[in-house]
Amino acid sequence: MKILLVAGARPNFMKIAPLVHELNAQQKRAQWRKRLRAKGQELGWKIVHTGQHYDYEMSKVFFDELDIPEPDYFLGAGSGTHAEQTAKIMTVFERVCHKEKPDVVVVVGDVNSTLACSVTAKKLNVKVAHVEAGLRSFDMTMPEEINRIVTDSLSDYLFISEKSGMQNLKREGKSKKQMYFIGNIMIDTLYYGLKKLEKKEKQVKAKVEIERDHASSYTLSSDRYAVVTLHRPSNVDEKDKLKDILMALREISWDMNIYFPMHPRTEKNINKFKLNKVIENSGIIMTPPMSYLEFLNLWKDASLVLTDSGGIQEETTVLGIPCFTIRDNTERPITIKQGTNTLVGITCQGILKAYRRFKKAKRKKGKVPKFWDGKTAKRIINILIKNQK
Ligand code: UD1
Repeated sequence: MKILLVAGARPNFMKIAPLVHELNAQQKRAQWRKRLRAKGQELGWKIVHTGQHYDYEMSKVFFDELDIPEPDYFLGAGSGTHAEQTAKIMTVFERVCHKEKPDVVVVVGDVNSTLACSVTAKKLNVKVAHVEAGLRSFDMTMPEEINRIVTDSLSDYLFISEKSGMQNLKREGKSKKQMYFIGNIMIDTLYYGLKKLEKKEKQVKAKVEIERDHASSYTLSSDRYAVVTLHRPSNVDEKDKLKDILMALREISWDMNIYFPMHPRTEKNINKFKLNKVIENSGIIMTPPMSYLEFLNLWKDASLVLTDSGGIQEETTVLGIPCFTIRDNTERPITIKQGTNTLVGITCQGILKAYRRFKKAKRKKGKVPKFWDGKTAKRIINILIKNQK
């Protein structure tokens, strides 16, 4: 059986890492080798990096830290409009499929690379497995929602992280046979990262400290701090919306310092809209994008995380860190029902209202959702192997 693992943008890398580790482990297990050989099969896989994200801090550092080998193919898609980026990935990925003749293409998440490679593979009659299937924000203005719907509509294997995913796919008419509730693959990486941090804690801490000193003239007055990430086009592409969010952050930062590792899109827009003055002389400490371990080391001890990312809503739920999601909806409702996540909207007023409540109330206690246990990659690979005839 030959598998192509596709990753393109930052949030994809932590989702393929556990699959690579598991494939390596499975291949080493003599039992599997024998069983596969008896069927006249070998287990082989290759990594395809579409190049949607390409800066060192947005890409290579994740491969290094998460022990993912160099990609076998780098498609060099780069930036562009959605159509340009998607078309470029499709064109080059088609050639890879012709050359490799994979049995299964595994795509993860909801980025443009996910959509491009699933459509390309399916048109070549290659089976598609979608990891993180079934999530729905019901907001068709989000490019990710379109990517999710299209990818799920043609995937052969739907690997689902939370119960809402099962319900959504059932409603969309998917057959039960295609749906596998296997848990959350990001959490495999979270546990992997925590273990690595334990070993390396001192080095990573020292690095973050240097960044902090570098980034600001502040010294931490206490160890209460918040962490922010922001990059959704709907939050950062319009001046007034971005300004409103930054005003709320500025206000919160009088209470506790806020570390703000900046996504390239957000940084560009803050400069373009000349919004630097909103955050100057506040408790907001801007840093370049952080590596996985650096970032984990920072947020795992935060008093509050504010974000518009998908994955961070899930990760904070597992570690029980309060999370404010700066959006009007989420495709990950379990993080609200069972976890520590709160939707706070995208206005200054809304964010501050939630913050005042947070200050008064007790910390929202969360529960770790089912199968978010660090064993998701194993379930996925077992299913793929079992289903290969
Ligand atoms: C993409 C995903 C989003 C994901 C996010 C995580 C889609 C539709 N969106 O959004 O779901 O949450 O990644 O980061 O696939 N840039 C760089 N260096 C890089 C990569 C990008 O400077 O390594 C710049 C580009 O010039 C571009 C901007 O950042 O203008 C945005 O990159 P892009 O890949 O288009 O989308 P993201 O906003 O990162």
